[in-house]
Amino acid sequence: MKNCARYIICAISLFLTLSLIFDAFADDDRYRKRHRYRGGSEKIDFDNDDNDRNDYLKPVTNQTYKETCAECHFAYQPELLPSVSWLKVLNQLDDHFGEEIEADKDMIKTISDYLKTNGAENSSAKRSKKIMRSLGNQVPMRISDIPYIREKHHELDPAIFKRESVGSLANCTACHITAEKGIYDDDDVKIPK
Ligand code: HEC
Ligand code: HEC
Repeated sequence: MKNCARYIICAISLFLTLSLIFDAFADDDRYRKRHRYRGGSEKIDFDNDDNDRNDYLKPVTNQTYKETCAECHFAYQPELLPSVSWLKVLNQLDDHFGEEIEADKDMIKTISDYLKTNGAENSSAKRSKKIMRSLGNQVPMRISDIPYIREKHHELDPAIFKRESVGSLANCTACHITAEKGIYDDDDVKIPK
């Protein structure tokens, strides 16, 4: 009986030792693999959103822009469209998606300076770079017409946009609860009923 117990303890400790050694080797191998990969050409996949740290857009600070342009929808960050698109929008305020917008020349000048300086092509945010890349030569008047933005939402059921709480893809704040902060991470999305 005593011998038997000793035999079992011996067998268990032999097993533990072997598995520890095996594990150490396995870890070493994994480490080396990872290390070699990183050491290689330091390739970073810029299209992988997991890598996007400086992805937040600057929250809107310009008071005139806020007062004039955030009455019917939230104040879209200038970095969501290139300046040429913003100018196109500002040049057609008498028929702004079916609405007539009244603003005096000085206000328009202030808004256009703000939007131009901060337009997508002048932004260092990776999202803006993706927007610019996806646009090519297109000059859309809508953020919701940008191929990159359309692509990000193409899997959503069209019925969602018919909900009164949503209305259209232009209504970013309906689903992106942090949109006003310039944060459009897919973790911060809540689609309203
Ligand atoms: C009187 C209401 C009103 C005001 C004020 C207003 N807008 Fe709009 N805007 C609209 C409507 C309506 C739409 C279309 C929304 C939709 O299709 O769901 C729109 C859409 C837009 C879009 C396109 C959104 C998209 O991606 O589809 C942009 C860009 C825009 N507005 C910019 C501005 C700017 C810049 C100003 C200030 C100069 C402004 N808006 C002021 C009513 C307004
Ligand atoms: C009906 C709800 C809804 C509306 C409205 C909406 N989005 Fe989204 N958006 C989503 C969902 C859901 C995702 C995540 C898709 C996924 O998981 O890939 C997303 C993803 C995104 C992404 C990519 C996020 C990432 O980390 O990959 C961006 C950028 C974005 N939206 C911007 C916008 C902008 C700008 C607007 C307004 C012009 C807008 N969205 C309007 C629901 C919405």
